Amino acid sequence: MRVLPYCLPLFVDRAEGPYVWDVDGHRFIDLNMGYGPQLLGHRAPIIMDAIAAELGRRGTAVGFPHALSHEAAELVKESVPSIELLRFTSTGTEAGQTAVRLARAFTGRSHLVLFEGHYHGSSSAVFHRYHATLEELEARSDWQALPGTNGTGDAVTDAYVIPWNDPKILERLLRERGDTIAAVIMEPVMGNGGVIPPSPGYLREARRLTHAAGALLIFDEVITGFRVAKGGAQELYDVSADITMLSKALSGGAPAGAVGGRRDVMALLGESKVFHGGVFSGNPMGMAAVRAAQLHYREHGSELYRDLEATSKRLADGLRHIFDDVGVPVVVQHVGAMLSCWFLNEGASGIPRDYREVRAWMNTDRHIRFQHAMQRSGVFYHPNLFEPWFPSAAHTASVIDETLAIFEKVARTFPW
Ligand SMILES: Cc1ncc(COP(=O)(O)O)c(C=O)c1O
Repeated sequence: MRVLPYCLPLFVDRAEGPYVWDVDGHRFIDLNMGYGPQLLGHRAPIIMDAIAAELGRRGTAVGFPHALSHEAAELVKESVPSIELLRFTSTGTEAGQTAVRLARAFTGRSHLVLFEGHYHGSSSAVFHRYHATLEELEARSDWQALPGTNGTGDAVTDAYVIPWNDPKILERLLRERGDTIAAVIMEPVMGNGGVIPPSPGYLREARRLTHAAGALLIFDEVITGFRVAKGGAQELYDVSADITMLSKALSGGAPAGAVGGRRDVMALLGESKVFHGGVFSGNPMGMAAVRAAQLHYREHGSELYRDLEATSKRLADGLRHIFDDVGVPVVVQHVGAMLSCWFLNEGASGIPRDYREVRAWMNTDRHIRFQHAMQRSGVFYHPNLFEPWFPSAAHTASVIDETLAIFEKVARTFPW
């Protein structure tokens, strides 16, 4: 994702608040924010201070239990009540790998249900071709998952991939194959296929169907956790998962992840019936950041999430206004501080409900060319149209207005 052939180079020298500077001294308003972790801005003082204090005490990794990881875990559990027990990891990938292993061990079943456009990290268990072309999806038989990369062997032969946001397809798959399915795993707000909220009632229906089939529901809240609400998508849509994956905003920027959930499922780790290992899991540096971020969300959550929503809305409304004014059809969607802005293809219209509609309706070439013009003008968001934009608490109203002024200038001179 950092060196895709269509990425303009951006080699970073330093970062602060809503900005990064490249090695040539150019400043960019950053809407990528490290792919999401920097919810409080780059080098947020409360996170940096907590890490600095911990470096002077236990350092970076000790390989023993310590009170800090326990305190951090209690705070996470308070935010996400479906988490009764949790394990810290270093990454989202590791959280996903362990979640899948737990689900298979708990149910005694082999298969997973995954969704088109959803990404759960690079572990072989779940790394399907989540950005497959429509032709590739049509050519498959039987919802069979396509391997995401060479080198995974037959890892995803035990997985089905179906369109998201369609309860009927999920119902049919679970009716026909339910007794082989260990878990249904989804991003509860689609992020990696572009930002799409769940249709009303979809998450609850997925919860009901999964439960009825005796399978577990895994919510990958690596993006949505502590971003769309303090309690993530589970709070926003009032639905509980059996297992939750967390990372990114969990720590406000330091490398840390977690997998947590129902006591009876998570107990398999404590009882050594399922293996999870990781030298850096629960390391003091990461835990200091998790604790500081979680305390901040607890103490300032109501203003923080209200302001993040207002920031995203200001950006979304401004973008709609600008492109409307220049006569270029766009779709802008946001859920809290995650946002997508797409140029519609000639003749396309409508609000996409799933990955296939984003793929079919949105203009990839125009997205990349416009992103290049924006990057050259000092605003960075990802040139891949499936990547969400991540406004942060450091994107004040004046930073958003400056961002919009640059959009407007570029839009007025762009060779559409
Ligand atoms: C929804 C989701 N799950 C899992 C991951 C994997 O996390 P990591 O890159 O920390 O392994 C990502 C990373 O972007 C993600 O967006």
